[in-house]
Amino acid sequence: MPHNALYTDLSCYYDLMCADIDYKTQSDSAHRMHQIFGNGGKRHLDLACGTGPHIQYFCATNYDCSGLDINQPMLDIAQERCPQAQFSQGNMCAFHYENRFDLITCFLYSIHYSGVLKELAGCIESAHGALEKGGVFFFNVVDRRQINNDLFIQHSINHEDSCFTFRSAWHYVGNGEKQTLNLSINKVSNDSQQTWEDKHPMVALDFDELQDMLSPYFEVHIFEHDYGKIIPWQKQSGNAIFVCVKV
Ligand SMILES: C[S@@+](CC[C@H](N)C(=O)[O-])C[C@H]1O[C@@H](n2cnc3c(N)ncnc32)[C@H](O)[C@@H]1O
Repeated sequence: MPHNALYTDLSCYYDLMCADIDYKTQSDSAHRMHQIFGNGGKRHLDLACGTGPHIQYFCATNYDCSGLDINQPMLDIAQERCPQAQFSQGNMCAFHYENRFDLITCFLYSIHYSGVLKELAGCIESAHGALEKGGVFFFNVVDRRQINNDLFIQHSINHEDSCFTFRSAWHYVGNGEKQTLNLSINKVSNDSQQTWEDKHPMVALDFDELQDMLSPYFEVHIFEHDYGKIIPWQKQSGNAIFVCVKV
């Protein structure tokens, strides 16, 4: 199995893993920020779009949506879910589109999949290049200085005579630009049990260096990690929403 089996061989379980995520509220948050800070345009690109749950909501809000993801099995599910959207396989750290977008989103900490700071710089540069003037780049991030290796999120769900337990946790060694997202899936059926362990290499960053990387390209606004509210970041929490406007 590859280290990211969840997005390839096990992609059929991805939506089960995310069953508790409030995709509508997250999508509404990006839409609202775009209304406040953006240019009002409706061309939308979702980076690391996965199976397309956010795109489904943006399409319902009359956006003209595109999705980019590196793993084709995820895109296959996305295309089935959102037949009206355009999907392409590619790396968010080096992408180019003929047409420009008004809103680019990257949800669920997926920007960390850039892997290392140099690649993250490529992602920021690509997003800037693909945005229309006044467009917004919206994403959420975690500050490596606040990662607690003892914390994890876990939930269980019944599906087709099996019980699935999903667990995810950040792990950061305390120095350097790499952290991992450790994911496990445990499937218990009547007479069998299977467990898969994924270790996803992610870029580790702090908000100060991220702001330094973004500021040559964007006017940067940082908010508390609460999709239901608009609260400027209070400089305490290690999770935040970045709203970056192309000036
Ligand atoms: C945690 S999932 C998020 C999917 C979706 N945004 C969501 O919120 O459900 C991360 C996604 O990032 C994709 N991914 C990982 N590295 C990538 C890269 N370098 N470029 C584009 N997509 C990438 C994976 O294939 C996966 O679909």
